[in-house]
Amino acid sequence: MQRMTVNIPGRGSRYEFLVKPGALRDLGTYVREVAPHGTAMLAVDERIADSHGAVARDSLVSAEYHLQTHTLAADERHKTLDTVRAMYDAMLAAGMERGSPVIALGGGVIGDVAGFAAATYMRGVPLVQVPTTLLAMVDAAIGGKTGVNLPLPSGSLGKNLIGAFWQPRVVVADPDTLLTLDDRELRCGLAECIKHGVIADRSLLSFIYDNLPAIMQREAKTLTELVARSAAVKVAIVQADEREAGLRALLNLGHTFGHVIEPLPELNLKHGEAVAIGLCAAGHTAVLTGRLNLSQADEIERVISIVGLPTRLPTPVESGPLIAAMAYDKKVAGGRVRLVLPTSDGSAELVDDAPRDAVAAAWAHVGAIDA
Ligand SMILES: NC(=O)c1ccc[n+]([C@@H]2O[C@H](COP(=O)([O-])OP(=O)(O)OC[C@H]3O[C@@H](n4cnc5c(N)ncnc54)[C@H](O)[C@@H]3O)[C@@H](O)[C@H]2O)c1
Repeated sequence: MQRMTVNIPGRGSRYEFLVKPGALRDLGTYVREVAPHGTAMLAVDERIADSHGAVARDSLVSAEYHLQTHTLAADERHKTLDTVRAMYDAMLAAGMERGSPVIALGGGVIGDVAGFAAATYMRGVPLVQVPTTLLAMVDAAIGGKTGVNLPLPSGSLGKNLIGAFWQPRVVVADPDTLLTLDDRELRCGLAECIKHGVIADRSLLSFIYDNLPAIMQREAKTLTELVARSAAVKVAIVQADEREAGLRALLNLGHTFGHVIEPLPELNLKHGEAVAIGLCAAGHTAVLTGRLNLSQADEIERVISIVGLPTRLPTPVESGPLIAAMAYDKKVAGGRVRLVLPTSDGSAELVDDAPRDAVAAAWAHVGAIDA
């Protein structure tokens, strides 16, 4: 077992992050330690309700919770206020009170939706995050961001436009749950692990490189180390900057590029795949602006590639609209494109004035074309 304490000084909040194969079987004990109450709600991804959900349910019932189970679809289109509203109704019907915990069992979608319901029902009830995707274990379940999409009149999703900071009482990550996660989703989680490695722990890149077969075989010991090391980067950052005033923005490495290609239907990219291409583009921008050595950028691309993530656009798209779209990304400050770029000292920095030429060359590097 690996255990970390997350301290959020501004809120006087402090909680444990546990990584342990088989931890799901003891979930009831972990929840009792932080939210001893009669009633609880298990908010579970419908895809895993009968498998991991059943294990969690048995453990929570054994810990003498009067348990209500609420299933949710892990679908961005259902990550909305309507879904939260349905959950409020279920919470009310279950007799949930101020002290009744919500246990979010699933990937980032479930953690965000159930977390937001927990943050707002009766002005906030205890939340326990039980992430079941690699992405959620190393990223989404840590740091207290919860929220839903607000579909926009334009038809776009309005990703995460509604939300609240609501820290969990404990995060319980059981790497055994990743046994049922498909390879493509596991690779998407690895994109975030690589991102964390680039930001703050470059030795994590060689760990992934050297241990890839064991990771893909879901070897429990290797996954435990991967999750713990990768999550440690996020923990360190959110401890220093809960509200994304500065340091937390580093977690957007690769995302400013990634966000503009993720919605393009012709590319058919998942979030982690778009981030992987974004990491390559950010690496190249960093080389062109003298922040990163070419060999370091190559090392980042090598690990992305060996993992089986894309380093280039699957089909060429025009760079002009991509550059224009970056200006609408929420990381824009005062009209300039703010980018997170890796640096040669093994970390990353927020850059306010990335030259347009370097950004255009970075898009060309990953396969975009001039009109
Ligand atoms: N709150 C934050 O700080 C934060 C950070 C990063 C991402 N996010 C959010 O997280 C979401 C993405 O998270 P995600 O990639 O975990 O997505 P997800 O919740 O959609 O899960 C991905 C897929 O894996 C399935 N799944 C989950 N666990 C499984 C398991 N153990 N076995 C088999 N299948 C399983 C789900 O049903 C889904 O099809 C996005 O909505 C994003 O906005 C939030």
